[in-house]
Amino acid sequence: MKKLIVANWKMNPETLQEARQLLLGLEHRMPTVQQAVEVVVCPPYIFLPPFSHYVHMTRLGTQNMSWAEAGAFTGEISAPQVRQWDVEYVILGHSERRLYCGETDEGVNKKIPVALKHKMHPIVCLGGEAGAKKTGMKRLVSKQFAAAIKGLDKADIQKIVFAYEPIWAISTMKNSKPASGDHAAELINHIRGLLAKKIGKDHARSAKVLYGGTVNKLNVHEFAKYPEITGALVGSASLDSEGFWEIVKEFSRESIHKKSP
Ligand code: PGA
Repeated sequence: MKKLIVANWKMNPETLQEARQLLLGLEHRMPTVQQAVEVVVCPPYIFLPPFSHYVHMTRLGTQNMSWAEAGAFTGEISAPQVRQWDVEYVILGHSERRLYCGETDEGVNKKIPVALKHKMHPIVCLGGEAGAKKTGMKRLVSKQFAAAIKGLDKADIQKIVFAYEPIWAISTMKNSKPASGDHAAELINHIRGLLAKKIGKDHARSAKVLYGGTVNKLNVHEFAKYPEITGALVGSASLDSEGFWEIVKEFSRESIHKKSP
């Protein structure tokens, strides 16, 4: 199974010129890893139209979208609008959106069917709640998982990519610290357990479940070495093309050498 590496650029970079340079740097290197990994770039919305002309081997994603498909929603962007620019993935429920923009579990649940209707894979982040502590992560992840998939059928749940992103590990949060590989693998196994109850063991085993939170070129091996961690959601480190490429290469090596869980 291919590993999935998602670059979440957040509100960066400032200019299209810088953004283009970052993307083309990745595109040029992709041929060496494309058998083993899929790389998804999630730039700010404004770069999607030009990027749809530049992407060949990388995939495009967005960092959010509205649950409404059209209408009077000032400042929002709809699924059909992003889809026309070849967007294939959408990050939902990111901790920064929950913390600063009022995203709720219910909102995430409303957005998933809309993303699927427009043929995009939701990347649903679990673990982002203000004040969440390491000891309470299983309970929080279970709660957010149940809320996210409420009312969805098995076929829909199978199309979701889940990402374990503990809020205390996001590099831009105060006093943040990456999770240990052991902790990330334990929680990802927990998510697979939750998935197994909904879609069966075999599908749960082959589902993509990512880890996110201060993944960088120095610690990537800590996560990539676990076969159950089937990819990464990378923020800050994805803005440095050399560093990000080290992350992609490490997952690609592990994907070739080890079997999936
Ligand atoms: P980080 O961000 O890699 O900078 O911790 C991850 C994320 O916010 O998705």
